[in-house]
Amino acid sequence: MSNAFSSPLMCGLLVFASLASAQQPQSPQSSRRDVAEIYASLCVNCHGPKLEGGLGPNLVDDTWKSGADDESIARSIREGRLSEGMPAFSGTLSPQDIRALVIYLREQGAKKRSESTSFARPVADKVVNSERHAFKLETIAEGLETPWSMAFLPDGRMLVTEKAGRLRVVEKGRLLPKPISGTPEVWSRNQGGLLDVAVHPDYARNGWIYLSYSDPGANDSAMTVLVRGKLREGRLVEQQTLFRARPEHYRTGGVHFGSRIVFDGKGHVFFSIGERGRKEDAQELSRPNGKVHRIHEDGSIPKDNPFAGREGAIASIWSYGNRNPQGLARHPVTGELWETEHGPRGGDELNRIAPGLNYGWPVITYGMNYDGTPMTDRTAQEGMEQPVLHWTPSIAVSAIDFYTGSRFPQWKNDLFVGALAQQELRRLRLEDGKVVHQEVLFKDVGRVRDVVSGSDGYIYIAFNEPDRIARLVPAPQSSSPRERPAAQSKAGEHGH
Ligand code: HEC
Repeated sequence: MSNAFSSPLMCGLLVFASLASAQQPQSPQSSRRDVAEIYASLCVNCHGPKLEGGLGPNLVDDTWKSGADDESIARSIREGRLSEGMPAFSGTLSPQDIRALVIYLREQGAKKRSESTSFARPVADKVVNSERHAFKLETIAEGLETPWSMAFLPDGRMLVTEKAGRLRVVEKGRLLPKPISGTPEVWSRNQGGLLDVAVHPDYARNGWIYLSYSDPGANDSAMTVLVRGKLREGRLVEQQTLFRARPEHYRTGGVHFGSRIVFDGKGHVFFSIGERGRKEDAQELSRPNGKVHRIHEDGSIPKDNPFAGREGAIASIWSYGNRNPQGLARHPVTGELWETEHGPRGGDELNRIAPGLNYGWPVITYGMNYDGTPMTDRTAQEGMEQPVLHWTPSIAVSAIDFYTGSRFPQWKNDLFVGALAQQELRRLRLEDGKVVHQEVLFKDVGRVRDVVSGSDGYIYIAFNEPDRIARLVPAPQSSSPRERPAAQSKAGEHGH
């Protein structure tokens, strides 16, 4: 929706236009009001200032007389229950407004629940008794500046990217003072900078290290680039650029670069690029942003890529309609590619990525605009994929990894999910491609930027604010009941 829609004049014209349109003659235009204002003007008298009820029922206690799913709640608002005193709002509110109200009710409900739940906040030497394993959160490196991603070399050293553009080494639990030199110049502003680092699965033989970063273009534009190089005496040498967009595809603005890098062990590399705040670009096959890409490990294009050979399409595209994918991981048993992407306000997604498919952004989404104005009421459409799960309200989902180690046997093959704003680490149990259980392992000890199942069987976490690298290590069960994390969080779990 363009900005012109926000002027009152345009709104008036649009209401008129929509009344005149044959398609949806009764549907009012989106009000473009903050959803909290809509609630305050139309709902507060009956449902109360804290949504805890009055004439109408409590809307934040997670009990729903007329159905708990999104569509039932939308129907309650749209059609009302006149006989019971609930007015119908289909004549006053657009479908987009009603969708925004559903998201708002979800947000307020989650807030209410999280106020009354205590989550584990592990501090030094405190044991957390989680559902399946007791663990401690052990800090292994401090003194980093906004660590963004981690990768292990076969000798146990860890590479860490710092967003500002430095590649660091943690050796035997010590952060080496000197960064690796010779790394590319990055556009380090807002969400841009040095992003992902990945070590080739056959590193011992070929020595390749892969990096993604935001690359400065003309007129203060930038775009995500993928390179590889080799480490020699503290320098990155033999650098090759594997993916770089054409100059006209660079975008201004500091948001949504992605990005993660994943190998499939069969000669391919997957990497993600966010839509750079240009949501419509995610649907354009002629643009690289808002996509997951697949290339050969040397940067050449696989002939069997879904859009290879299609006129005007970028041949490396593997999937599209992706908003800002900052989590990408291969399932250790099925080999499937799993992805997480930030939604707007609401609608963070967990997806299974298959070639050539459209994941819907921005045509369909479970979220609304950050300012609380509605975006769309469309959450599904023919030809567009549904997420496996969405988190509404958003947790600000970041990185993911499957646990493949043996120190936590009851977590084998579970998916670990980090969250920035909600500062959580979640454990997801999957069965037959679905999420059957979620557990919040801890909360509120920093923004979780990256999570990696280490080759030594520990689970490594890169935190921002405060910046550090820590790991989960097994611990004997603690007798203190206060360190037990909350059971399965009900907040924002909506499976498909
Ligand atoms: C005049 C009072 C009144 C106003 C105004 C009102 N409601 Fe209600 N609402 C009710 C009552 C009473 C019920 C219970 C209906 C029933 O028992 O089926 C209800 C039920 C609901 C339900 C279904 C709850 C459930 O348990 O399934 C939802 C959702 C809801 N209202 C949302 C809203 C929203 C959003 C607004 C503002 C746009 C709003 N209501 C405005 C009185 C009101």
